[in-house]
Amino acid sequence: MVKKIITKLGSLYLFCLGMILSNQLVWKILNSKNRFLYKSSQKKLSQLEKKLLTQLKKDGIAITSLQELFGIDQVNFLDWKEKQKESNITPNKKDFLTYYLGGSYQNKIQKFYTKDVLIDFSLRDELLSIVNGYFNMFTRLVYLEFNETKIIEEKESLKMSQNFHRDPGLHGCIKVFLYLTKVEEGGGAFTYIKDSHFLGKFGKVLRSKYFGAGGVYPSLDKINKEIPQENITEVFGDIGTVIIADTTGLHRGGISFKEKREMTTSVFYPEHDYHKSKIEWLFEDEEQISRQQSFAMNNRN
Ligand SMILES: [Fe+2]
Repeated sequence: MVKKIITKLGSLYLFCLGMILSNQLVWKILNSKNRFLYKSSQKKLSQLEKKLLTQLKKDGIAITSLQELFGIDQVNFLDWKEKQKESNITPNKKDFLTYYLGGSYQNKIQKFYTKDVLIDFSLRDELLSIVNGYFNMFTRLVYLEFNETKIIEEKESLKMSQNFHRDPGLHGCIKVFLYLTKVEEGGGAFTYIKDSHFLGKFGKVLRSKYFGAGGVYPSLDKINKEIPQENITEVFGDIGTVIIADTTGLHRGGISFKEKREMTTSVFYPEHDYHKSKIEWLFEDEEQISRQQSFAMNNRN
């Protein structure tokens, strides 16, 4: 009985919060400083950054690579992932994944003592310019994850985020995925429904709960009824493939019949979204960092 009341109160809270924060005027006022910071510090985007941002706004997803976007290869990441796998298996809710970093966004604070390869990647100006350009404001890096899929039988029923869903987010949520294994058919590919992000044609179809403060898991029947098949995109790619996606659009992943897939996730939300940063930075920056990097780290702002 008490549990039921708590659940109901939680839903009511999210409903009210979602209703208020999803209001365009409220959102604009709350974020006026962050929009100003973005506008006033906006650096000129490169041709590639422009292309990726246009793609992201149009489809809800843009695909590039470490080499193309940053001119770096995956060598440092291969070292990083081996160290990560040796030292950590973190608890999680999804039994089809093994987590080496993160795995419990809701409850766990993430502490970082040094600027490692994944943090360096997530805070690169090239990437932040695209993420901030999408939201039209400075945004926060709120959470980092590294996991590996487990092999399942083809007939096994799909669980949680293996099914199409929308992540919570009042005005979008950007997740940046980096493949650390080659991903082919049956290998746990990230799968996205183009045009289902909040700016897209299917943004208002099969909508999230509580005005975006909660996610939603529509049935496959509903997806097939509402969405053209050609919009469903499975992202295959080599090690070093970088996927930038608004995951309040419909997506799924982690279905590995043949090969395991290793992938990192860097999550970005606007400061005033219901989802706040879970990261505590416990290191001093040795070098000069840009304003958007400082803001993304929730540092000195
Ligand atoms: Fe998701």
